Amino acid sequence: MPSAPPHTKADDVKGVFKHHFGYTPPHLVKAPGRLELLGNHTDYNEGVVMSVAVDRYIQMAIAPRTDGKIELVSSAFPESEIFWMSEMKKNPAAPWADYVKGVLAQLRKRGVNFSGFNAAIWSNIPMGAGMSSSAALEVATALAVRKLFPFSLSETGATVPPKRDERGHLPPLEKAERMFFAKLCRAAENEFVGVPCGILDQVSSLFGKPWNVINIDCRFLTVDHAPLVGEAIIVFNSGVKHALVGGEYAELRQNCESAAKKLGAKSLRSVEMKLLKQHQAALTPREYECAHHVVSEIARVVAGERALRDEDHRQFGQYMFASHESSRDSLKNSTPGLDTLVELARKHPGCLGARLTGGGFGGSTINLVAYHQAEKFMEHMARSYEAQTGHKMKPIVCQVVEGAN
Ligand code: GLA
Repeated sequence: MPSAPPHTKADDVKGVFKHHFGYTPPHLVKAPGRLELLGNHTDYNEGVVMSVAVDRYIQMAIAPRTDGKIELVSSAFPESEIFWMSEMKKNPAAPWADYVKGVLAQLRKRGVNFSGFNAAIWSNIPMGAGMSSSAALEVATALAVRKLFPFSLSETGATVPPKRDERGHLPPLEKAERMFFAKLCRAAENEFVGVPCGILDQVSSLFGKPWNVINIDCRFLTVDHAPLVGEAIIVFNSGVKHALVGGEYAELRQNCESAAKKLGAKSLRSVEMKLLKQHQAALTPREYECAHHVVSEIARVVAGERALRDEDHRQFGQYMFASHESSRDSLKNSTPGLDTLVELARKHPGCLGARLTGGGFGGSTINLVAYHQAEKFMEHMARSYEAQTGHKMKPIVCQVVEGAN
């Protein structure tokens, strides 16, 4: 997806639609990107993780069709992508459309009926920054279909559709149903796109709450919120593109899963550090490192939730720094660029915590900064980063927002 300026109006997506299809789109949907605040690679280990939905969005302008065709156009790519609903196949020339197709395939699998549509896609989520433009596109697609061809989702699939009100609006998704949407979107990414990701990104895009952190329990698939008020959230993009389709992410997941298996556990969520250490010899060195990271990271998230409840943001920030060190030294998914950004951030007194966010191997760092020192902190980062690397760097200041609905 392209990265347009952060606060460009929603009219842009309408403009893209009108330019391509020649008429004004009747409907708009949008879904936010996310930042992982604490809990690196814990989600697919059935662990706990904390995130926020942020004010960078995928927007979709949509209109129904009756001929069973779907035509997608994106402001980032010159060619549109047209396909029949009956043949949803990957097109290597338009990999961006895979996220849409994956969701449509999952909707059909669950018995949702729809007859085709036109859609324009627009985004201001920086691509490759690790802010989950792909999950936002999946969520926006599922909501687009709901808007055009109303349906409800349950554990077993599509059920009685919701009723529109007198203005034609659908009721917002209930909490339980939102989780079914998140699962469907994750399945799209796992099965169609082929990325073995966990559920963090999809849940974050759907469960955001302004000024609040989302606490996700990935074993029980439950969510609650905790206020995080008074600090700024600032992102630095290392400029190294992160793409989860690469093999590194899958390699980490495999090591975690084989470690759990060898320890006789359903997942690393069930493993205590003491047990892990006792059985170190049963694991390969790489399995041990990955497991060590995950087991310690889950403990950090639990401690972090407590620190936030106590409004001890400095303590919370310490867990963020410790998380980065564990990702860097044990999981080994950091990069020199990300390490430099965290080390420079750490030197500024206004910085409460900093760490890599998301899959790693590139992407961004997330920084929790005392609000009144944010300007000075950004100046410090720009100056010292340029002095150290010779490169300029632009901070991305994020607001915590409502999830998609
Ligand atoms: C990516 C994946 C998530 C999660 C994070 C790492 O963002 O999509 O499911 O595993 O990496 O915590």
